[in-house]
Amino acid sequence: MISLAIETSCDETSVAVLNNDRVISNIISSQISHTKFGGVVPEIASREHLGKITEITDLALNEAGKKITDIELISATSEPGLIGALLTGLNFGKSLSMCLGIPFVPVNHIHAHLYSNFIGENNIKFPFISLIVSGGHTMLVLAEDFFKHTVIGKTVDDAAGEAFDKVAKLLGLNYPGGPEIEKYSANGNTDFHDFPLAHVRGSEFDFSFSGIKTSVLYFLRKIDFENIKSEKMINDICASFQKAAVNSLFNKTLSAAEKFNANIIMISGGVSSNKYLQNKFNSLKDSGYSVSFPEKKYSTDNAAMIGLVGFYRYKFSDDKNFFLNDSLLTNAKARLNYEEF
Ligand code: KG4
Ligand code: ZN
Repeated sequence: MISLAIETSCDETSVAVLNNDRVISNIISSQISHTKFGGVVPEIASREHLGKITEITDLALNEAGKKITDIELISATSEPGLIGALLTGLNFGKSLSMCLGIPFVPVNHIHAHLYSNFIGENNIKFPFISLIVSGGHTMLVLAEDFFKHTVIGKTVDDAAGEAFDKVAKLLGLNYPGGPEIEKYSANGNTDFHDFPLAHVRGSEFDFSFSGIKTSVLYFLRKIDFENIKSEKMINDICASFQKAAVNSLFNKTLSAAEKFNANIIMISGGVSSNKYLQNKFNSLKDSGYSVSFPEKKYSTDNAAMIGLVGFYRYKFSDDKNFFLNDSLLTNAKARLNYEEF
């Protein structure tokens, strides 16, 4: 089955073509006009998706060597994300499916990150613990089978990627902050300063990242960073922050794996491409864990992961009538929110 997948939940316009679960093309256009604002401006994001979506679709079809009439299934991100941005890709996908008379599958963006580890993988084993770490979400999920997931922990405030972005902004670095912090950390001292992570009341697997961002802010004020800043100091602060943030993700994921007896750990989302994080988790392989990350091009937002979940949802569902006839966000069938996740 040849499918076309669309992702427009945030600031990447992406379209992919798949043959069953195999990705044939995956075009990603990242919006750079948000850089000067230090974060994504929703209205700009929607308008840019609208301006790009047709061109990116043509590119994806060309690269795959397919015509639009070869497409048999359309999938698009339905939530969560920026509402205007989501609606652009979703309505584009729905319109295409109506015109072509082919099925349409709405896809939950977090499901897609979770399954991004499976792209190109033939041997999918359950159960596993999935850590999804992106700019909008931080979640620990126990996956027992296809679409049998339980959220066992999530952030109570900022997402991990958001903390990287906010700390980078405090240090005067560019957006997105994650890659910047990773770059400066490479020459920094991880023990320069101990940035504390807040203890979360409630679930033992919940995360909190707003406290660490505030502790970086107070530290910068205390040392009068604006007046004494140097490249070495930025390197050291980045390295110390990165260590603290990654340790929190690592410790809770390992505890979850132990508690739920899962020796497979999958990490996905934009933050999973961080090399310091990957090295930390890879050290678990010596203790018998299987650890995996998506390829870098599938860790940040991309349509290939949407297409994979679209295909699986279509394949595993008895009721193939996914099309969202009425308002997207009130259609109970299409909603796969955290609780139902
Ligand atoms: O998955 P993603 O593309 O978008 C969302 O669904 O949110 O993740 C983007 C996030 C941003 O916060 C970005 O700073 C972070 O992932 N990120 C990183 C790295 N690359 C991207 N964080 C830490 N280290 C990286 N190398
Ligand atoms: Zn994402």
